[in-house]
Amino acid sequence: MLKNDTNWWRQAAIYQIYPRSFKDSNGDGLGDIKGVTEGAKYLKSLSLDAVWLSPFYPSELADGGYDVADYRNVDPKLGTLKDFDEMLSALHAEGIRVFVDIVPNHSSDQHEWFKAALASKPGSKERNRYIFRDGKGKNGELPPNDFVSHFAPSAWTRSKNADGTDGQWYFHMFAPEQPDFNWDNREVQLDFLKTLKFWSDRGVDGFRIDVAHALKKDFTRFNKSYTKIDSMNVKPNGKDILFDRDEVHEIYREWRKLFDQYNPPRVAVAEAYVPASRRTKYASPDELGQAFNFDLLTTPFVARDYKRIVSENLELATQSGSSSTWVLNNHDQVRTVTKFGLPKGTDFNQWLLTDGKSIKVDIELGQKRARAAAMFIMSLPGSTYIYQGEELGLFEVADLKPTDLQDPNWKRNVVLKPERVFFKKQGKMITGVAEIHIEKGRDGCRVPLPWTSTGPSFGFGSAHAHLPQPREYGPLSVQAQAKVAGSTLDVYRTALKLRKKLQTTEEFEWVKTGNPQVLHLSRKNGWHCITNFDGEDFTLPKGEILHSSSPLKGRKLPKNTTVWLKA
Ligand code: NOJ
Repeated sequence: MLKNDTNWWRQAAIYQIYPRSFKDSNGDGLGDIKGVTEGAKYLKSLSLDAVWLSPFYPSELADGGYDVADYRNVDPKLGTLKDFDEMLSALHAEGIRVFVDIVPNHSSDQHEWFKAALASKPGSKERNRYIFRDGKGKNGELPPNDFVSHFAPSAWTRSKNADGTDGQWYFHMFAPEQPDFNWDNREVQLDFLKTLKFWSDRGVDGFRIDVAHALKKDFTRFNKSYTKIDSMNVKPNGKDILFDRDEVHEIYREWRKLFDQYNPPRVAVAEAYVPASRRTKYASPDELGQAFNFDLLTTPFVARDYKRIVSENLELATQSGSSSTWVLNNHDQVRTVTKFGLPKGTDFNQWLLTDGKSIKVDIELGQKRARAAAMFIMSLPGSTYIYQGEELGLFEVADLKPTDLQDPNWKRNVVLKPERVFFKKQGKMITGVAEIHIEKGRDGCRVPLPWTSTGPSFGFGSAHAHLPQPREYGPLSVQAQAKVAGSTLDVYRTALKLRKKLQTTEEFEWVKTGNPQVLHLSRKNGWHCITNFDGEDFTLPKGEILHSSSPLKGRKLPKNTTVWLKA
């Protein structure tokens, strides 16, 4: 049962479910909502406070579900609203709250509003829900400006008029199948309030807000050249054309008023890729309440960097009146096990483009470090996010075949290269164009979970999974690890259970270790966490050993290991 606590989110353990890859209940190769319900007991065994479900709405999957065709429904491939309600009750009965993902920056091109926009005239009310502009050039054949989309190349696509002739261009920060909404339009604003109310009324506890920093744009200045879309590098003055504009906060202040009408108030977390100093606004109590801190996603397993990031983020959280969030993995990132198992400085994308063949990854080392990092962040004040499969020590599947890849990052980031190839049979050179992919994409971290050691998809479902699992996922399955002391799953379960018991006020202190490779932090109630990143065996101070991420050597803490002590 759920405890009635308005602050439940401040130091929660939240598990991200990527629904299409969690559990397939009907054997069609795609994870579904009933699969999540089937997994309720497993989720309970992880002592979670909440789960966050990535989009499960009707979608053509141009971007893994982040292209939403209907915000207030369930994709028929994944189930029904009734299945959703049953899942929500099943999780609530286990004491687990539920976040859903809200994707307000763009819809799918299959959304009824976008279809209506295409069928309507320039300047119409229907077009004004999106961002349509006339093209440049004699016949409007050139895009309105040189903005580049995240998924390459142009951020503009020319639409067809109802009679089949070429028409205006529409703006999309991501794929052409993801047209951006016009957030200056009150109708758009009201429709999202309706969506938030729809899910809140059903009992949803929280929302993860996709691309929260990009909703407001200044298209009065759109002639300015802006060839690189990188929200982390914009001037932090709230006046950029596309990102982190000051007016975006008006939207969230209005959302907060809605959230606060519920008991307990609905909560939210912003995905806002903005410089740390600008993140606090999104996280303030009169807005979304929390914002993702992604700093550790791009940080190697290095003591000095971890220390700096922790100190900075706890300070920022205090400034905003929020609590911090700690994230090591999500559905957009190379899995930590792989990152930490590769030499420092590896360019992960380049490595992935070789199907992981250019450098051998040390999986065991990666798993060891990933467990140590996970126990380290779990001991910090604030919320811990866990991405499905992280608790099994899953690694990035680097060698998915081009025919299996689904991510627009792979499909769209292509350069064409003229090529001359000598064809022996014909005895001549043939000139052609080769497609060179420059991004491998994010499918390698989205491969379905292995539940059992054998079976066509290791218990994910009765059929083959929509992204093929490697053979090595069998020994990492839930079944294979569940009863093995010291397995990654066992380490996570014990740590999360203890974390729940040990959780205390948000104060924390660094304790001097005299060793730059060893970080030691303590919480008010005598809960101590010590991580040896890369040093000699470290002699532990006094205290009862509660748990460790890997075996200790008596009272010595080997490198790549975290221990929790009770003073
Ligand atoms: C961020 C999501 O995490 C990512 O998966 C998606 O591609 C983009 N936003 C666009 O919605």
